[in-house]
Amino acid sequence: MRARLVAGNWKMHGSLAANARLLDALKAGLERAEGLGYAVCAPFPFLPQVSEALSGSRIAWGAQNVSEHDSGPYTGEVSGAMLKEFGCRFAIVGHSERRGLYGEDDSRVAAKFIAAQRAGLEPILCVGEALAQRERGETENVVARQLDAVLDVAGVAALANAVLAYEPVWAIGTGRNATPQQAQDVHAFIRKRIGASDRALAGNLTILYGGSVKANNAPELFAMPDVDGGLIGGASLVAEDFIAICAAAQR
Ligand code: PGA
Repeated sequence: MRARLVAGNWKMHGSLAANARLLDALKAGLERAEGLGYAVCAPFPFLPQVSEALSGSRIAWGAQNVSEHDSGPYTGEVSGAMLKEFGCRFAIVGHSERRGLYGEDDSRVAAKFIAAQRAGLEPILCVGEALAQRERGETENVVARQLDAVLDVAGVAALANAVLAYEPVWAIGTGRNATPQQAQDVHAFIRKRIGASDRALAGNLTILYGGSVKANNAPELFAMPDVDGGLIGGASLVAEDFIAICAAAQR
């Protein structure tokens, strides 16, 4: 059975007080479930708090970004080794907000993916098309290009220590989730494409869906055979919503 995961992406939200309440509630509310992992991806300054609160718990944590460099004169950047020091397991790479708002192109995303792994982190690699691209029928081409940019430099074997997240840009923060079938179609496409190089690896690859996952739509999304959990933005900030979404990922 391949690993399932529900990861919260807090984005630029939170405060010491709000995080403490949320983390306490998650620790109390998330039950051990066979084959299912949990994680929260917090803003950098909160990683010491998160690591202290969650160490020894069943919840892993990660960052939302990582530098492609290991160290050096890169003002404002944070390296994978630094994240490792705070116990991060994951780093989100290539989120559409990073691609769209901060100019991260495919080659930079690939460099970040490699840097994360070099530091011993598991990248959560995000791919997904914009609405206009979907409407033009380009979804598979866009996702393939984003995927290949990483595979070309990292090699397919690198995916054994990574998680993929399909996040259609039009579904992020809009309240308009992909239908379960739309998600399934793209997940199956991704798995097939990777499977062409390494069938066993593709079969074991955890592919998350992200984009307006809520407690009420999670069960049908997570019921799809190639959807292995979710990357959750807004709903990850509300303990009872995130807990309900995690419960929906149990098999
Ligand atoms: P959302 O965000 O759940 O708020 O749509 C998902 C994401 O951006 O990872």
